Amino acid sequence: MPLLEIKNLHASIGDKEILKGLNLTIEAGEVHAIMGRNGCGKSTLASVITGHPAYRVTEGSILFKGQDILSLSPDARANSGIFLAFQYPVELPGVGMAQFLKAALNAKQVFLGKPPMDAVAFMKHMNLRATALGISPEMLKRPVNVGFSGGEKKRLETFQMAMLEPDFCILDEMDSGLDVDALKVVGQGVSVMRESHRGFMIITHHDDLLQYVKPDKVSIMLDGQIVKTGGADFVRQVEEQGYDSFR
Ligand SMILES: Nc1ncnc2c1ncn2[C@@H]1O[C@H](COP(=O)(O)OP(=O)(O)O)[C@@H](O)[C@H]1O
Ligand SMILES: [Mg+2]
Repeated sequence: MPLLEIKNLHASIGDKEILKGLNLTIEAGEVHAIMGRNGCGKSTLASVITGHPAYRVTEGSILFKGQDILSLSPDARANSGIFLAFQYPVELPGVGMAQFLKAALNAKQVFLGKPPMDAVAFMKHMNLRATALGISPEMLKRPVNVGFSGGEKKRLETFQMAMLEPDFCILDEMDSGLDVDALKVVGQGVSVMRESHRGFMIITHHDDLLQYVKPDKVSIMLDGQIVKTGGADFVRQVEEQGYDSFR
C-alpha cells in the first residue's frame, strides 16, 4: 500500500480551480520532490493534504496509509502522521519551544491511545535531536520562532520535524532564501530521518535543496497537474531546459 495516494484531485479557492485532476503516489521510504514554477499550485497541494479550510476539494481522493483523509480535521491528519514545514514559519510569542513540542508530542500520544511522555524521556529525546541539528539550549529557551533569522527558523522547523517523527513530511519551499549552511541543516534533517516507513514530499521550484537531498523520485507540476514523474535526473532537466520541456 502506498503511503500517500492522490487520485484525480480537484481543488478550488473561492471559485478559482487550482488543482485540476492531480494524480500522485508516494511510497513509504521515498523522498519525492515536487517541482513546478511559482503559481502552479504546489502550496495549494500541501494545504489540501493537510486540510487547510480555505480550500474546497470538488473531486478526487487522498488516501494516507490507505485511509481516506479528506473527511478528517487538520488536527487528526497531523496526529495520524502528516507534518507540514512552512515556507514562512509562524511565530508563537510567549510559547517556549520545549513547551510547544511537549504539547504537540503528547497530543499525538493521546490520539494514538498511548500514555504521555514523561519529562525525563522528553528532555532526552529533545537534547539528542537538538545536538544532531546544531540547536543550542539557548535557542530552545526562547519563544517559538520569535526574533530568529530566516535561516534559524528553518533550522528550528527542521528540529521540530525531527522531534515529532511524522510518517510523512511535507517541506514547502523550505529552501527559499536559505544560505548554504541552513540548506545543509535542512538536508541533514531529511537525511537523519530517511527511514523505510517514512515518506517526504519536497516542494520546490529550483534545485537548491535537492543538491543536498537526492530525491528518489521527481514529479513535475504544471498548472495544477502532475505532468511527469521520473528520477533525480529530472532536477537537472528543470535547471537546463526549464519546465516547458516536460509538456
Ligand atoms: N487565497 C487565494 N485566493 C485566490 N487565489 C489564490 C489564493 N491562494 C493562491 N491563489 C492562486 O492559486 C494559484 C496557485 O498558488 P500556490 O498554490 O501558492 O502556487 P505555488 O505554491 O506553486 O507557487 C496561484 O495562481 C495563486 O495566485
Ligand atoms: Mg508555494
